[in-house]
Amino acid sequence: MFRIDRQTPDDDAAVEALLDRAFGPGRLEKTSYRFRQGVAAIPELSLVARDGEAIVGTIRYWPALIGERLRGGVPVLLLGPLAVEPGRQGEGTGDALVRRSLRLARRAGHEVVFLVGDRGYYDRYGFEPAGKRGVVMPDEPKRLLVRELRLGALQGIRGVLCPWKG
Ligand SMILES: CC(C)(COP(=O)(O)OP(=O)(O)OC[C@H]1O[C@@H](n2cnc3c(N)ncnc32)[C@H](O)[C@@H]1OP(=O)(O)O)[C@@H](O)C(=O)NCCC(=O)NCCS
Repeated sequence: MFRIDRQTPDDDAAVEALLDRAFGPGRLEKTSYRFRQGVAAIPELSLVARDGEAIVGTIRYWPALIGERLRGGVPVLLLGPLAVEPGRQGEGTGDALVRRSLRLARRAGHEVVFLVGDRGYYDRYGFEPAGKRGVVMPDEPKRLLVRELRLGALQGIRGVLCPWKG
């Protein structure tokens, strides 16, 4: 089985190797990677699933903004990547990582979470197309999803999702 734990610096290499196996070599070309360059993942929301010494799952969250920082952008979270070891998928690991991290994010006072992913997977966690809520990522017109952690947090807010660092 597995247990959910905070990611530590000692886990970094194993997490990167897991991501290579789960997503393949092109993973760093994805649009969402641009949002992570030069920005640190939020430590308390960087979780791993461990089975003994092995890391079998990973999830992280990054700060992002609706709008631009200099113009009073609204701080939000960008979830990703989420991955489970290819030979260990379908055992509930991904589900545990998503649910635990969303609970921690809400408790820490975060109000809105975005991600780029499949609606068919993420709608069970309350994510919906961000475009319907008036927030877009120009390179990902269809796959940008959003979930409010505080009901009404997105009310009156529209714009482009931007990296935390220009
Ligand atoms: C997607 C992923 C994280 C799910 O983790 P997991 O531990 O395998 O998932 P769980 O065991 O918690 O849940 C499995 C459920 O997710 C569903 N599922 C998995 N991938 C899915 C997808 N792309 N679309 C829709 N449903 C999906 C399964 O059908 C299963 O449904 P069920 O509970 O109704 O039977 C994992 O399969 C993975 O790492 N995939 C490759 C990387 C990836 O696509 N990451 C997501 C990027 S946004």
